[in-house]
Amino acid sequence: MKVSGKSYRTIWLAEDGWSVEIIDQTRLPHELAVMRLLDLGSTCHAIREMHVRGAPLIGATAAYGMCLAVRSDPSDGAIEHAAAALLATRPTAVNLRWAMDEMRAALSSRPTSERVTAAYARAAAIADEDVATCHAIGQHGRRLIEEAWTRAGKSRPVRVLTHCNAGWLATVDWGTALAPVYAAFDAGIPVEVWVDETRPRNQGMLTAWELGQHGVSHTVVADNAGGHLMQRGQVDLVIVGTDRTTARGDVCNKIGTYLKALAAQAAQIPFYVALPGSSIDWGIEDGFMIPIEERAADEVLAIRGRARGDLVTVALAAEGTRAANPAFDVTPAPLVTAFVTERGVTAPAGLRALYGRL
Ligand code: MRU
Repeated sequence: MKVSGKSYRTIWLAEDGWSVEIIDQTRLPHELAVMRLLDLGSTCHAIREMHVRGAPLIGATAAYGMCLAVRSDPSDGAIEHAAAALLATRPTAVNLRWAMDEMRAALSSRPTSERVTAAYARAAAIADEDVATCHAIGQHGRRLIEEAWTRAGKSRPVRVLTHCNAGWLATVDWGTALAPVYAAFDAGIPVEVWVDETRPRNQGMLTAWELGQHGVSHTVVADNAGGHLMQRGQVDLVIVGTDRTTARGDVCNKIGTYLKALAAQAAQIPFYVALPGSSIDWGIEDGFMIPIEERAADEVLAIRGRARGDLVTVALAAEGTRAANPAFDVTPAPLVTAFVTERGVTAPAGLRALYGRL
């Protein structure tokens, strides 16, 4: 996608041909900064501290982290150590495990002398596949937005509500939940996006930034506003991403997603989940089996933003206040109208068939 007219992905190989560059998302939306990953340690740090984030991008970054690890030691032991370190960074997004399985499969049968080349080739393919997958999600999801536009008599923009950031910043390019929005916008369908701020990390500000860069009309709302907007008929459809969806279609996504799904059901508004196959955990049926990341209390008790040109953190609570910070929640499959995947659109009951997993 473009930033000030220049094309970017969220992750790429640096000019030296081996180190890895990422857009540092902890500095957005205030400044576009590039960060360089030089080894396994800096990659784990970048994922854990959310310099990169979003399930598909976490997977792609971990794949490159494996390249950096193999570059310094291509042994079986080093590969296992790197996989364990990367898997420990963030527990919920299943794309991370998927990427480690892919990298292990690409490396294990090769002699150590071939592993560095093979690792970089597989990581680059994972990144490219993510771009193609997200583009396909966009094309399938565009039709849903077009249908909503037709239902509205093509007389006004389609009003989409989204939570967190499942745009191009959360993937290598295009995004999952926002890919259909971009595809609709590019096809001339007028779209207006309600952007949940998504406390405590405020990923909504990333969503607002990237929508703004693409020229898509949007309005940020406090997380608590969604129910009100849906109840008053100001939302045509909700679309979100997912960090892990189970085989029966339970959806784990950013904390607060579940409340939006409940409100959408009460207001009889379609609730769509956009995802690549790599976000599906075929080994789990029940969403309550998914590990939910508990992040630092500081993220709730303080807020980060720009003041007089500098990025600063400001305390919100009295000293000694306790806070809980579950980062994700589970929306049960019956609340999901349909999944938008790279293979097409399906109700939860059709997910297995769509991926040939009957
Ligand atoms: O904690 P984050 O910012 O990594 O959480 C991101 C989300 O919850 C996204 O909705 C999800 O990863 C899907 S991204 C295409």
